[in-house]
Amino acid sequence: MGSGPCAGSASAAPGSGECPIVIDPLVGGLAEETEALRTAGPLARIDLMGAPAWTVTTHAEARKLLTDTRLVKDISRWNLWRSGEIDESWPLIGMVDAGRSMFTVDGVEHRRLRVKTAQALTPRRLAGIRPDIERITGRLLDAIEARAAEAPEEPVDLKSAFAQPLPMSVVCSLMGVDPALEPRLHRLYEAFFSMLTPQDERLAVIQELDELYAEMVREKSLSPGDDLTSALILADEGGEPLTAEEVRGNLEAMVAAGHETTVTLILCAVRALLTHPEQLRLVLDGEVGWEAVIEETLRWESPSTHLLMRFATSDIEVAGAVVREGEGVVMSYRAIGRDRAQHGQDADRFDVRRPVPVRHLAFGHGPHICPGAGLSRLEASVALPALFERFPGLSLAVPVTEIRNRPVLTQNELESLPVRVR
Ligand code: HEM
Repeated sequence: MGSGPCAGSASAAPGSGECPIVIDPLVGGLAEETEALRTAGPLARIDLMGAPAWTVTTHAEARKLLTDTRLVKDISRWNLWRSGEIDESWPLIGMVDAGRSMFTVDGVEHRRLRVKTAQALTPRRLAGIRPDIERITGRLLDAIEARAAEAPEEPVDLKSAFAQPLPMSVVCSLMGVDPALEPRLHRLYEAFFSMLTPQDERLAVIQELDELYAEMVREKSLSPGDDLTSALILADEGGEPLTAEEVRGNLEAMVAAGHETTVTLILCAVRALLTHPEQLRLVLDGEVGWEAVIEETLRWESPSTHLLMRFATSDIEVAGAVVREGEGVVMSYRAIGRDRAQHGQDADRFDVRRPVPVRHLAFGHGPHICPGAGLSRLEASVALPALFERFPGLSLAVPVTEIRNRPVLTQNELESLPVRVR
């Protein structure tokens, strides 16, 4: 790794085909990076913290590849893993070698691991979760209101006070995770995803999470509750129940994938509306629905920026180039959402007037399409109107240029969102 004509290249070389685009782990300039990827696409060479890979940047190619059975999630198919060039010292290893769960297997095994979870998230089942979401939303808004009454001059960080606790509480309640564990889980995931965390610390965090979830599965095996983790333990998929490791993997995948993405959706929607007041007016006047806001935000600011990773089990031709057997392929969902061929020449513009449904791929496509899509849409469709109803004078407390991303390579995660509520 790291040798050859591009070694040490710190900047993007859009479209050159020679030097990879270096994906910035500190997320210093997401807009510029997305533009570089789009120019170099539909299939671009990237450097992922020292590991060469391909990324897909257009809607059409992503749709094709996300249903191509020659691309799999199994890390043992990765040439760099097999050769030992990538090992546990690579900072992104925890996101690729994530244990056995629906996220990391394919084919028949994937269906077996996923079916029960998907059944728990059908629209009918989600309707039963809605009152919980409304209750948590109301409680968080009450707390913000009380704080604002005490200290009217103080800006409120909408991330820590609202957008963050809501999805974490919802996914923990769905999976039967003790609410007392939420602050600890939050701290662990902050460290896990931050690219500033030293790798030995991250490995310790992964171990702590694994042990925590294994203990939860053990406890629930002894006394099952009315939650999805217990349902996964008791499931008998054609006489082949999930093993304790598989239940733990699915539980981890659900909590990890089910909170920060929805935080981002809510925060990016608020930021977009506050910086496009004429569009906020249309929504508040009832001329455009909240569904349009949510779908346009998902397209424009995909919460998942780079989805790691799939591996080619044979040579695959993609838009005139060839992904060789064993090479890694990333889905750059943020660039895919800005694809002009799919969304028009104004794809970079946030516009809630685009016709619904907005055909974006923010939840993926094919067998691994997000099973939590309906839940996150439901959370946003409760949280956003409730927030703007409670605080009609909501405004940003800092210039939008001061709102930064966290150093999270895979997600479009904001550091904070300081607002004034009156
Ligand atoms: C705005 C919110 C969300 C976004 C943008 C999002 C995005 C995605 C994407 C792009 C994938 C596909 C990954 C791939 O290409 O393989 C995915 C998969 C997944 N998501 Fe979400 N997600 C969101 C919310 C949630 C929620 C709320 C949950 C759980 C309650 C969840 C659980 C999962 C799981 C378990 C997978 C793996 C599915 C599989 O591999 O079969 N996600 N998500």
